[in-house]
Amino acid sequence: MRITKKYESSAVNTFKNGNPIEFFTGKGEFLYTKNKKKYLDLVCGSAVTNLGHSHISHLKIVKKVLKTGIFHTGTRLTNEFRERLYTKLNSITPSNINSFHLCNSGSEAVETSIKAAQYFTGKKNIISFSGGYHGRTAGSLSLTHNKKIKEPFNTFRNISFFPYPGTFKNKNKKYSEEECLNFASKYFKSKKKSACAAIIECGQAVSGIILPSQNFFLEIFKIFKKNNIIIIVDEIWNGFGRTGNYFSFQNFNLKPDLICAGKAMSSSLPLSVVLGPSKILKKWPPGIHTSTFQGNPLSCAMACATIDELSKGKLIKRANKINNILRDKLSILNDIHFISEVRTHGAGAGIEFVYPDGSANSSIVKLIERKMLKRNIIVYAGGERNNVLMLIPPLIIKFNNLKNSLKVLIKEIYLLEKENKI
Ligand SMILES: Cc1ncc(COP(=O)(O)O)c(C=O)c1O
Repeated sequence: MRITKKYESSAVNTFKNGNPIEFFTGKGEFLYTKNKKKYLDLVCGSAVTNLGHSHISHLKIVKKVLKTGIFHTGTRLTNEFRERLYTKLNSITPSNINSFHLCNSGSEAVETSIKAAQYFTGKKNIISFSGGYHGRTAGSLSLTHNKKIKEPFNTFRNISFFPYPGTFKNKNKKYSEEECLNFASKYFKSKKKSACAAIIECGQAVSGIILPSQNFFLEIFKIFKKNNIIIIVDEIWNGFGRTGNYFSFQNFNLKPDLICAGKAMSSSLPLSVVLGPSKILKKWPPGIHTSTFQGNPLSCAMACATIDELSKGKLIKRANKINNILRDKLSILNDIHFISEVRTHGAGAGIEFVYPDGSANSSIVKLIERKMLKRNIIVYAGGERNNVLMLIPPLIIKFNNLKNSLKVLIKEIYLLEKENKI
């Protein structure tokens, strides 16, 4: 830790809230310190470790890769595990999706998807949404909405932001679905149709678990399709089981053109992908968009094991059961005056905290984060204004462990209310 603190770039999150706890081992939904102190992980490394820690299928496949002795071949040579992964991806995607571009991070997948759309159409402008989070590399940051994290940097100017239902219109007011759909319709009536693609999350996560209705998604897709806009769905957070399906767009019967996925795809190692029709992903020439570690055997192997586990069906169904527990247990918090909303999406929840005038209260979320850590439960602050307490349990969590942790959380929140800390 001392060495990390000394040398690590301060742009990394590690010491944002003081010194973090150092973990040495992990099993299932728990992380353990050197002294075997046990913590319940309700963060999953930002929606990555959906299968928990040291899952048996992961351990087995790592051994297989170890036996080959090959950890890197580069992109000019293929490898056994990349080959296997393509077959598995093909088996879980809709029939119009039959080509894949592997990358190393969510941001890189997002950049790949917009480059693919630009190359395919010959147009450059992109549509994104208020509250949207698509990453931090220059291209993906351009599509991310949060001005605070963009301002110091040079980002693309050819992005139009459409309003997204449930995100902030001004200090206290949020956009309604009707307003958002009207905006989109008017945009295409009043402007030249110069955009080539739109990127959208079917439920925003980083912005604080914001989930519009199926009707909104169906209507906005209709508008985009009518105007020949390539629809890119960002499934980097929601994909690979988190919302009760392989991909969240499947919950709403939507047909995107390109899909970006990452995070839980390997449930651990750096890996992401753009999935799309060969019409788009096989149009561009070899080498025009490539990177050194693309299709790395170990990352691909971990993704194969993850997909095998999800294909058994039980874990994906658990996301819905976790949702029921979160909704059922947390609904009581709607009566607390300093909580404006409790929202859930699949195996994830966001609890939004406000001051009496309705403005964002991020300090209470920080306080609860610290209190929960003292109770050996890891949660974290998120949302557009850092005033949302995020709960992102792994799909393998024992229901009793989840229920008990929610009891602890609710008790802590009630204590704060009683002590009149707000
Ligand atoms: C929806 C979404 N898109 C893109 C990203 C960026 O992914 P990465 O941090 O792997 O670059 C994230 C990360 O949280 C995300 O949640």
